[in-house]
Amino acid sequence: MREDTRDAANRVNEKRLWQRHLEMAQIGAIPNNGVNRAALSQEDILARKLLLSWARQRNFAVSVDAIGNLFVRRAGSDPNAAPVMTGSHMDSQPRGGRFDGIYGVLAGFEALEAMDEAGVTTRRPVEVVAWTNEEGGRFQPCTMGSMVFTGARPLAEVLDVTDNDGVKLRDALAATLAATPDANPREFKAPAAGYIEAHIEQGPLLENAGRTIGVVTGIQGLRWFNIEVSGKTDHAGTTPLGLRKDAVRDAIAIITALCELTHDPDDVTRFTVGRMLVTPNSPNTVASHVLFSVDLRHPDPARIRELGAAVEPLARKAAKSCAVKVTPTLHDDPCVFDANVIGAIEDAAKTLDLPHQRLPSGASHDAMYMARVCPTGMIFVPCEKGISHNEAENARPADLAAGARVLTAALLELANR
Ligand code: GLV
Ligand code: MN
Ligand code: MN
Repeated sequence: MREDTRDAANRVNEKRLWQRHLEMAQIGAIPNNGVNRAALSQEDILARKLLLSWARQRNFAVSVDAIGNLFVRRAGSDPNAAPVMTGSHMDSQPRGGRFDGIYGVLAGFEALEAMDEAGVTTRRPVEVVAWTNEEGGRFQPCTMGSMVFTGARPLAEVLDVTDNDGVKLRDALAATLAATPDANPREFKAPAAGYIEAHIEQGPLLENAGRTIGVVTGIQGLRWFNIEVSGKTDHAGTTPLGLRKDAVRDAIAIITALCELTHDPDDVTRFTVGRMLVTPNSPNTVASHVLFSVDLRHPDPARIRELGAAVEPLARKAAKSCAVKVTPTLHDDPCVFDANVIGAIEDAAKTLDLPHQRLPSGASHDAMYMARVCPTGMIFVPCEKGISHNEAENARPADLAAGARVLTAALLELANR
């Protein structure tokens, strides 16, 4: 490792990085140390403004694209060179924690500051991105910002998505973009020379193994569907069973069939119904409509395709009296990260004397989409008991700083290529 790279990595300031997590966690704070910072909400806007205020203090250039992905750039010596990118997301789950996503943004920003303080010059610019709507908790699907940035889906296709209150994404996005008028416009598909995302592991492997750095090898496949079951409202006390078109009963039948489909003695297949909207949602009225989500994951591309293909026929077969509509909202095949980026991360961990191991990601990340357009990798740090998507999510300041050091070194390696 070059001396100036080691110097920059060592300038990562654990206290400053921790303080920034605490400051960000106040935006959308909920009880028990939790965070509710939905994509394109007022809280998201405040987080964006805070990040921009830090960027301005450093004179870093700021840009934003049409889906609200926010980019903070430390210039390189070659103005024509494509940037090396890092980052993650600032939106959270409705009952999320203080680290999922925001760690990758703050670690990236810390890396830029450490580079500044070490006075290193890179050939390529180094850029931190805060992707819009990674979680997909408010607007589906998840990883939307990176999906649109990389051209995997056109912006027009997601503008009419609505949240649970009927707010359209296009309106929430317009309000978010209007809140940061001084960011320069940025094109989709702007070239990137590489992308490294830092994230808490969201699982227990690193903690159990006593290792500080996870060198991520790839991300398992993911498919999302919305299933709508339509029947009719009736009186709960008077309507005989044979006359009912009960959307809740049919939804339960479909979910039971999907549980059977995805039953896996090896516990590799993941199946979750995490969102359910019932209309009219009254105890003494038979429900006329249920919308629920399906989240399916598997590391094997053939298996995830097979499972995904089975969803619609199975749902139609399981429903007894209602109409069923199945809408696929996301299809991500498993991705494998770039060998050179994996190598750069591993070398950085070795040189900085940090215990590390390779591991795959069970959770999805924006790195999945960046891997389609440039050499990509990820760095994991441990989180307490592997708990995530939960207010109790926790990580140690020293581990967060260690991950940011590895990130700084690996970014510098890529930025001088
Ligand atoms: C990201 O939060 C995911 O759903 O994996
Ligand atoms: Mn995340
Ligand atoms: Mn998440």
